[in-house]
Amino acid sequence: MPKIDFRSLKNRSEKEIKEAKDLRELNEVFRKYLGKKGEITQILGSLKELPKSKKAQVGKKANLIKKELKTKIEEKNKELKEKARREMEKRELIDVTVPAEKIELGHLHPLTSVRRKVEEIFESMGFSVIEGPEIESEWYNFDALNIPKDHPARDAWDTFWLKDELNAKKLLLRTHTSPVQIRYMEENNPPLRIIVPGRVFRHEASDASHDVQFYQIEGLMIDRDITLANLKGILKTFVKLFFGEDIEFRWRPGYFPFVEPGLEVDIKCLICGGKGCPACKRSGWVETVGAGMVHPNVLKAVGLNPKNWQGFAFGMGFDRLVMTKYKINDIRLFYSGDLRFLKQF
Ligand code: PHE
Repeated sequence: MPKIDFRSLKNRSEKEIKEAKDLRELNEVFRKYLGKKGEITQILGSLKELPKSKKAQVGKKANLIKKELKTKIEEKNKELKEKARREMEKRELIDVTVPAEKIELGHLHPLTSVRRKVEEIFESMGFSVIEGPEIESEWYNFDALNIPKDHPARDAWDTFWLKDELNAKKLLLRTHTSPVQIRYMEENNPPLRIIVPGRVFRHEASDASHDVQFYQIEGLMIDRDITLANLKGILKTFVKLFFGEDIEFRWRPGYFPFVEPGLEVDIKCLICGGKGCPACKRSGWVETVGAGMVHPNVLKAVGLNPKNWQGFAFGMGFDRLVMTKYKINDIRLFYSGDLRFLKQF
């Protein structure tokens, strides 16, 4: 048997005990030296092979180291256990004086807060706020509005047709809020005054001023002797209350099959001040409202006699209204969910 270097054995094992980071590592050290096949165990096991003169001396040293290691390991064991306990405690500790994490409060989307403002203005002029379905039948969206099948005017509304039908009627995503005019007149007798805010859908390419979904606010007023002057008066009052007295706008003739005569209202683009930019298609004006006197065929479609009743209707591009008010240059920002945009309102 070669000479055993007890000094190095002692230094080595003590160093390893000292460096053990956790109980598992410490247990490894124990096994390496004092386990069944541990170094010291083996030394002690092979004592019988030594000559008598050496046996006592080696045995004594080995046993001494064994005892010392055991003590050291026990001490380290206690220390590591205590350390683990303290760490647990630290993790469980709740400091009730630490300020709570702030719960972030959201706020209304600009389309919602402005819609409420618009509703308030019209309510102050005696209009009620009405809603209608986003999935419509072909009849309400087109035919009842004097846009029969194969009429070229249907091309003006790029339509998302749905695969499903209801009672053999074709369904679509409404392309405007005008079908609610029909629904409301079917259920309610004139005189009536309503506005209809709602989401509409168009199957078209999106750009700074167009998206596949947007909002409109429909208006309808029916009574015995309503004229174009009433329409202009109501819209002018609205535009001034909404934007302020200085706002510039213009009337021009427009064609919609469900009104006669028809007109459109453009608002001077506030983003470029009328010079022309992507938001106003470089024209300096933003087409914001379609309007006109309700066509006799529409009144007939809901069983009203055009000789007794007449009125006006309008449809506002609501997103464009909000874009103009806040100088937003891209309609798609409303639907992007981008917090950098939304947090500005
Ligand atoms: N529904 C028309 C559109 O979507 C707007 C409109 C409504 C025009 C009412 C006239 C009267 O373009």
